[in-house]
Amino acid sequence: MEEGFEVAGHRLTLCPRPDEAENLGTGVHVWDSARDLARYLEQQRTTLRALRKRGRVLELGAGCGLAGIASATVGQPPAALVLTDLPGIVPLLTQNVSLNRDTLHPDTQVSIFAFDWRDLPPRPELSSVAPFDLILGADVVFRLDLVRPLIDSLDALSDAATEILVAFEIRCDVTYAAFLSVAGERFGVKRVYVRRGGSGFVHIYQLRKKRRGRVD
Ligand SMILES: C[S@@+](CC[C@H](N)C(=O)[O-])C[C@H]1O[C@@H](n2cnc3c(N)ncnc32)[C@H](O)[C@@H]1O
Repeated sequence: MEEGFEVAGHRLTLCPRPDEAENLGTGVHVWDSARDLARYLEQQRTTLRALRKRGRVLELGAGCGLAGIASATVGQPPAALVLTDLPGIVPLLTQNVSLNRDTLHPDTQVSIFAFDWRDLPPRPELSSVAPFDLILGADVVFRLDLVRPLIDSLDALSDAATEILVAFEIRCDVTYAAFLSVAGERFGVKRVYVRRGGSGFVHIYQLRKKRRGRVD
């Protein structure tokens, strides 16, 4: 069943799946973190540098793709929008991009790739677009064993100019602490948003890669 979302005066249509019967995992739903991140992008469209230019935008663990698709409609249309998730979610992402093709600018090159954070380095189809100007992740901090692969992926696809926004609900203190600790090794980490939702707090963190010291 299709679901509608209002973002910056645009009506986005997504097609979440009613259940997980197809064994596709959590990507079949639109999570609160994605809704909040889309809203945050709308609010910050004049302050986020990446949304004021025709840049390259990546969403990791995109699921139904709400945050990534929204990012392409709130500011300057990006030159490239790349949505990624596990292989089983790719058909759903492809369907959702088609449903919103008329809202996306015709000059935005949209790509959908299978990308598992545990498979690094990323394949050339993805790494050749990096470094990205903006990287989004909604509800991607949910399993302790995936925290380091996620941060390694962010590291592999960014540079010091990349704006990174990661939204998530704190469901497990240990996973949350691991995210802050592992991300802090390589990124400046700042909380930019918090909202009390139905099932807990939704946080948005901004990450900015630390400049590596030069070794002479
Ligand atoms: C909780 S869902 C969030 C989906 C979507 N971003 C949202 O907020 O509505 C987590 C997403 O991470 C993806 N994911 C899980 N493990 C992954 C991995 N190892 N590599 C890449 N994506 C992964 C899932 O397929 C799913 O789409």
